[in-house]
Amino acid sequence: MNKMIVIDGVDGAGKGVQTRRLQQSLLSSGIFCILTREPGGSPGAEQIRELLVNGDPDKWDSMTELLLMLAARKTHLRETILPALAQGKWVISDRFADSSRAFQGIAGELGLDIVNQLHQICIGDFKPDLVLILDIDEKIALSRAEARGQGEDRFERKGGEYHAMVRSAFREIASSDSSLYRLIDASGSMDEVSTQILSTINQAFSLSLQLSDAS
Ligand code: TMP
Repeated sequence: MNKMIVIDGVDGAGKGVQTRRLQQSLLSSGIFCILTREPGGSPGAEQIRELLVNGDPDKWDSMTELLLMLAARKTHLRETILPALAQGKWVISDRFADSSRAFQGIAGELGLDIVNQLHQICIGDFKPDLVLILDIDEKIALSRAEARGQGEDRFERKGGEYHAMVRSAFREIASSDSSLYRLIDASGSMDEVSTQILSTINQAFSLSLQLSDAS
């Protein structure tokens, strides 16, 4: 049975590399999977992403950010995720709903109830099968993200206190439901983190994925 796996966490935690490596490992073992991301992951949602990740950090308040994230998520689900799952493909997503909980709900101070209520209205009961939260000191992670210097840094510029709240929110979310979440220590080398991710997924879905050297 095909699955949807989300990799989430603070900015600069290494999700980009780890999602690409995971896709390689799945493909190498003969499992067809797509790699997608949020905000974005479909043509309409990528247009909304542009609005969110560029410009002044105060350009949108937390509620407006949440509404834009949900608009992007709804179209991402309809255009990309649900069709892939219906075709029997696995889906790996770089971020999903827990980013809204951590960033807008906790760090953005809307509260989890509001995020969960709006999520229910817009997205309904849909949930991924497994969410891996990459956990790392947010200062180290942010300095990596800054060093990449790829632009799209509106959230990165929200300040240290904001990102400390994001990290602790993700840790709290990870401990809230052990059937859905796994906390991954992302402070080690890329290979160490990939190994933890693969062994977690192997255990969860009785697979024998191996580290792929194609990434
Ligand atoms: P990315 O750099 O990981 O692609 O994500 C862009 C930014 O969007 C990142 O700083 C986190 C933020 N974000 C939210 O604030 N709420 C959300 O629901 C999502 C999906 C992302």
